[in-house]
Amino acid sequence: MSQIIDGKKISAEIKEEVKRNVSEWKAKGFGVCLAVVQVGRDPASCVYVRNKKKACEYTGIASRSYELSEDADQETVLSCIRALNEDPQVNGILVQLPLPPHLNEQEIIAAISPQKDVDGFHVQNAGALTVGLPGFVSCTPAGVIELLKRSGIALSGKECVVVGRSNIVGKPLALLLLQENATVTVCHSRTKNIREVTSRADILVAAVGKPNMIDDTYLKEGAVVIDVGIHRREDGSMCGDVDFEKALPHTSAITPVPGGVGPMTIAMLIKNCLKAAQIQKMQEDRAQHTS
Ligand code: GUN
Repeated sequence: MSQIIDGKKISAEIKEEVKRNVSEWKAKGFGVCLAVVQVGRDPASCVYVRNKKKACEYTGIASRSYELSEDADQETVLSCIRALNEDPQVNGILVQLPLPPHLNEQEIIAAISPQKDVDGFHVQNAGALTVGLPGFVSCTPAGVIELLKRSGIALSGKECVVVGRSNIVGKPLALLLLQENATVTVCHSRTKNIREVTSRADILVAAVGKPNMIDDTYLKEGAVVIDVGIHRREDGSMCGDVDFEKALPHTSAITPVPGGVGPMTIAMLIKNCLKAAQIQKMQEDRAQHTS
């Protein structure tokens, strides 16, 4: 019998922990505030942003919305971010991706203060992860690690295969798995004989963005399968990068879509918001002591 990993339940536990910690933090007279910048009204982004703000509200984190029009120019977005960087009330800044194609995403992410980059997308945070220094880690890969740990799945010495090499998921996840002493392979669209590689995996993570791509033919018997994909079918139902029905009988544990990795991303985001507020307070105190 395969263990179906309940991301909703695990994320709810994390949200409760954050809620408790935020309440203790507020009792000391401090706050936590996330600024969410959205450019345009991409329907999927609207759903994600709404859910992020709902999680903030639930855990006692203040959230501010900056809704810029679809045709906002680069300078408008950059000056919005610069103002938020300077605002001492704002602890975390999140720019919802994807941005409209006329904008330079790299430059916009680079404008976010690394100390407020709760998404972990800034090169300073990505670099810190690479060399094992403290920083903010991208929420979805951090959520995958948390999901595995809280499900009692050991990582040390395991063969882990990540399918997908995005900056947001595949690459940081490979680094996090390495940090947990796993043996890590990253596959992508140019990988030759991909099934040969994936069928070595004790733990297979699918983050390709192709509906139902990974079926039983990709799996070693008894593998743990983590599905990062999320797609809406024409009939409105959801599916992941993994063909759940075909994969399930061949796994020892698997995440469903929805209710697997998805809720973990938001749980890690609010955790990062509290962490940002606490680090900023510590840095403020240190600056006062030395001045
Ligand atoms: N778009 C898809 N995933 C994410 C995410 O984790 N953060 C942001 N800011 N945008 C996204």
